[in-house]
Amino acid sequence: MCGIIGFIGQNAQKTILNGLELLEYRGYDSAGLAMRTQKMKNTEIFKCKGRVRDLRNIVPEEDNASGCGIGHTRWATHGGVCDQNAHPHKSGKVTLVHNGIIENYADLTEEYELEDVLVSETDTEVVAALLDKYYDGDPQKTIWHVAKKLRGTYALVIMFEDIPDRIFAIRNVSPIVVTTKDDNAILASDPAALYQFSKSYFVLPEESILCMEQGTIRMTDQAGNLIEPEYQTVDWEVESVGKKGYPFFMEKEIMEQPEAIKRILEHYIKNDEISFAEEKIPDEVLYSFDHICIVACGTALHAGMIGQTLLKRWANMRVDVEMASEFMYSDTRVDEHTLFIAVSQSGETIDTMGALKKAKECGATCLAILNVRGSSISREADYVLYTDAGPEIAVASTKAYTTQLLIFYLFALKAATLKGLMGKEEFKEALGELKKLPNAMTKILEMKNEIHLLSKEVVTAPDLFMIGRGLDYLVLLEGALKLKEISYIHTEAYAAGELKHGTIALITEGTPVIAAVTQKPLLAKSLSNVKEIKARGANVVLLTRSGLTKEIEGGYHVIELPDLSDAFMPFLEIEALQLYAYFVSSDKGLDVDKPRNLAKVVTVE
Ligand code: AGP
Repeated sequence: MCGIIGFIGQNAQKTILNGLELLEYRGYDSAGLAMRTQKMKNTEIFKCKGRVRDLRNIVPEEDNASGCGIGHTRWATHGGVCDQNAHPHKSGKVTLVHNGIIENYADLTEEYELEDVLVSETDTEVVAALLDKYYDGDPQKTIWHVAKKLRGTYALVIMFEDIPDRIFAIRNVSPIVVTTKDDNAILASDPAALYQFSKSYFVLPEESILCMEQGTIRMTDQAGNLIEPEYQTVDWEVESVGKKGYPFFMEKEIMEQPEAIKRILEHYIKNDEISFAEEKIPDEVLYSFDHICIVACGTALHAGMIGQTLLKRWANMRVDVEMASEFMYSDTRVDEHTLFIAVSQSGETIDTMGALKKAKECGATCLAILNVRGSSISREADYVLYTDAGPEIAVASTKAYTTQLLIFYLFALKAATLKGLMGKEEFKEALGELKKLPNAMTKILEMKNEIHLLSKEVVTAPDLFMIGRGLDYLVLLEGALKLKEISYIHTEAYAAGELKHGTIALITEGTPVIAAVTQKPLLAKSLSNVKEIKARGANVVLLTRSGLTKEIEGGYHVIELPDLSDAFMPFLEIEALQLYAYFVSSDKGLDVDKPRNLAKVVTVE
């Protein structure tokens, strides 16, 4: 999604460019900035299709001047990818950047006869034209007047030609975070761009206008009343935002998983009991609801699907899992008897936020499983369980998934014991398996060369299938997403028992298939499905565990994982699949961290 920087202070242009690079992981296809220094008679705009490095090639040499400016990385929504549609947009005295979608931009264009002044295809330029149309020298009054006409989501950062030393901002849903240091003031789409200045920042409240000047910031409500910022501190060590020597953030984040899992186990398991006391989640939240509804997107949705299996199996709960974009616009059975669980790494995904708001309107109690503290969803939920996986920069989610899984395992185990459905022995065994995870997951990482070798067989494959049953199938959904989103190989995960109902028609000589076979009760059935596709020419790689290998006849490439109890195998399977996808993408010479068309945080519907 789009990235925004607003800055006032020393070395303004350099700071904005560096800030935009820190936001590149959000995904974009063009970049631009607008500058105003004492030496400039008016605001100057530089923007182009491509990367921030291309923008660096077209901006003038920095003269370390102090000044103010706004920068933007654009993930195209309205209008193609071209220089003209890149931000910032300027209309008369107004220059601005925008993150979000103005749903009624066409109506506004027609109603206010703006066609003749517009030169781009974007919804954003319509806002600039409206602001200029109404601008009477009072920025706040103008911004309020226009904001009331807008429908949709926006983070707008605005400069006025006749006020060269100030930047204004207003938001609705799309995020803006702000901080100051000495004579500098900076705002951005997320804290990643603020670390260079401070670990303390605040979220610009909706229904307020920010005015940034040299080293000072003022927020006012529509009546002009001052609003005090509510600062919070980012809990990640600044250096953890770097790559630490890895070629890509994704590899670093895959490697960080055992440590992240260990951290969570230490945080939530005290004296062999699972405790959510620090998060102030009452026990009754875990056992007193008739219905649980888990809603998320992408990888987070896949984690929720495993959560569903665990809550049904261990806590005998009625659990629905829905994708957020569908949940918002479909009939729902959510009510005051529902525990609604929103899962999100960023805590900013607009579909998930929208679903959460709908669930609250229906009377549900809302728990969020998040990675980013202080994110928008964290402020909307009744309760939050943090994964604390540290910053996840690569677009492809890895450590967020395994830490989300762990939160679901802990939640389901605690619910099962509170409901009297799991005895002490079984609970102790389960905790024992969880405590094995950091070492077992480290062992998978030590298999990376073997996995890399196997992955080379599919670097040029156009299609790939992943098949499994039960938990194996659910974890393959995530494995398939990893491979397709970073290697661009069309990959489908299929329930092994479902193949013969249609999809097996696609299996031909040499079709690459990864078959996950780690669940002992499903072993025979899974293997017979594997034989069906092998008989039709598939080139099968078996993902299994050492305790089952002897029951599997030869003739397959095998990735043999360390033995854990069936229910805990997804942690190991997904690490192997993450590495597999990573190596295919890097061997194809692709930008593993920033796959085409994708964004790390999806803040548009
Ligand atoms: C997964 O690799 C993708 N980056 C994407 O599916 C992501 O999981 C999804 O957009 C949800 O993001 P969130 O967890 O920040 O809400």
